[in-house]
Amino acid sequence: MTDNAAALAHPPPMPEPPGHHLVLRVMPMPADSNANGDIFGGWIMAQVDIAGAVLPARLARGRIATVAVNQFIFKNPVSVGDLLSFYARIERIGRTSVTVNVEVYAERNPGAPEVVKVTEASLTYVAIDAQGQPRPVLPAPAPAP
Ligand SMILES: CC(C)(COP(=O)(O)OP(=O)(O)OC[C@H]1O[C@@H](n2cnc3c(N)ncnc32)[C@H](O)[C@@H]1OP(=O)(O)O)[C@@H](O)C(=O)NCCC(=O)NCCS
Repeated sequence: MTDNAAALAHPPPMPEPPGHHLVLRVMPMPADSNANGDIFGGWIMAQVDIAGAVLPARLARGRIATVAVNQFIFKNPVSVGDLLSFYARIERIGRTSVTVNVEVYAERNPGAPEVVKVTEASLTYVAIDAQGQPRPVLPAPAPAP
């Protein structure tokens, strides 16, 4: 690839939120639309739940379950063809739970690319054992020698 082609393929400046990690990228399809032609909010919520689980699942090194959606804000509508980027940051680590902030940005208008913040949410996940019961997120500290 030439330098020029590489520059054209580069995304527009993405306002990566401080302390957040890119955990998911996905493009909604026409089947994900509501009756107005915008993307169905429930589809976005499902993607946010998947994206929000990435960091807690790594931390807990096992099964987790979503226990709460603390906040969910749809700031701007999402359209078919938008490329959605999901950024996550761990907000709080409790004994058995992890709370995560998720911000979603849409990259749109390929002719004149722009990036728009479309959604922000806070979710809490619980580390669970084989019986589905809460378990500590972090391993117990090793006993002092
Ligand atoms: C998740 C689940 C195992 C928790 O069981 P529980 O008996 O309610 O657990 P506890 O009351 O001991 O709470 C466990 C943790 O969740 C937190 N929690 C419970 N309810 C909460 C709420 N409404 N908001 C935020 N945190 C909450 C508690 O503070 C605790 O965190 P901590 O240990 O870090 O302090 C149980 O509620 C469950 O199975 N829910 C269904 C999960 C599910 O199906 N999710 C959707 C698909 S993944």
